[in-house]
Amino acid sequence: MYSLWNEHLSSRIIPVVGDLSRPFFGLSQEQFLLLANNIDVIYHNGALVNFIHPYEQMRAANVQGTQEVLRLASLIKVKPVHYVSTLSVFPAQSDSEVQVFREKDYLEHGEILESGYAQSKWVAEKLVAIALSRGLPVTIHRLGRITGNSKTGVWNTNDFMCRMIKCCIQLGSVPEITGLVDMTPVDYVSQAIVYLSQQKESIGEVFHLLNPHPIKLEELMGWVRSYSYPLRLVAYEEWRQELITAAKHSPDATLYSLLPLFPENRSKNQISIEESLSQSKMTQFDCQNTQGKLADTSIVCPAIDDELLKNYFSYFTHHGFLNYPHL
Ligand SMILES: NC(=O)c1ccc[n+]([C@@H]2O[C@H](COP(=O)([O-])OP(=O)(O)OC[C@H]3O[C@@H](n4cnc5c(N)ncnc54)[C@H](OP(=O)(O)O)[C@@H]3O)[C@@H](O)[C@H]2O)c1
Repeated sequence: MYSLWNEHLSSRIIPVVGDLSRPFFGLSQEQFLLLANNIDVIYHNGALVNFIHPYEQMRAANVQGTQEVLRLASLIKVKPVHYVSTLSVFPAQSDSEVQVFREKDYLEHGEILESGYAQSKWVAEKLVAIALSRGLPVTIHRLGRITGNSKTGVWNTNDFMCRMIKCCIQLGSVPEITGLVDMTPVDYVSQAIVYLSQQKESIGEVFHLLNPHPIKLEELMGWVRSYSYPLRLVAYEEWRQELITAAKHSPDATLYSLLPLFPENRSKNQISIEESLSQSKMTQFDCQNTQGKLADTSIVCPAIDDELLKNYFSYFTHHGFLNYPHL
């Protein structure tokens, strides 16, 4: 099996269990100082990822946690920080004009971000940018929608997109939502972050790690159909009613957990659906800086094609996340 795990390196991993939401990560001051003295580089990937909670509930882990990371990075000796951010720091456009967000664009876009998660990641990234302006060597990696390993299909099935695919298959229907779906396999993202973080010239840079060729939501659902899962395309409100009815009777919490993301008044909350499921057709992300830096390597984002989706679906069925289709 293709895996990042390398047993003979395991003795070099020393887990230190902490809590991002607490001062000094909940460690003693001595432990924190010991870490500050011993470590050479920080990859800050941890965050509370939740599309429902308000900013107040995300702030401790995502904003104050990042502040503690920056404190750790500047204490005793300066350490480079590779910060994992999100493309959700930019707003989803609902206007008629396409807006392209580039790696060099300022965070001060002046738009309102809908979710507490996006707001907390925006504030955290701002802190990281301030630290950079004060001389801390930092690199920002803004990720798109991360999907499973492209070779093995292994995917965190608690993830929103997996739940949504399962939900549509269980209902036998899919809501009419227009938009583009980004699927950026985790093996591409992790290899890219490791490679980019090892280049001296990456300090102070921002990288957009997303699939340069997103697909239409209808296309994704077309593939699901081609794997013999029947899906009807229904109006949003009708689909929402089907979801409510099915969630009431389902012993599995998957359907219920999706309900808050599909509010009654869709127009008001359209952005939150698009942020969690797909991106607006009017929002595009440029990743030329990243593509340029990876050009001489073998690190390429896999295309969203039959091969990739077959790997994902065979993982889903082999591991019991999805039932095999009734043929
Ligand atoms: N997945 C995506 O599509 C996506 C897209 C854009 C950006 N990102 C960014 O990528 C990073 C990883 O996201 P993910 O999707 O892999 O999320 P995830 O599966 O929820 O992993 C987040 C990790 O953060 C840890 N964490 C959360 N709160 C913590 C706290 N208070 N103290 C210590 N650890 C805490 C979690 O620990 P436990 O397992 O113990 O809860 C978990 O290991 C995040 O920074 C996220 O913003 C992800």
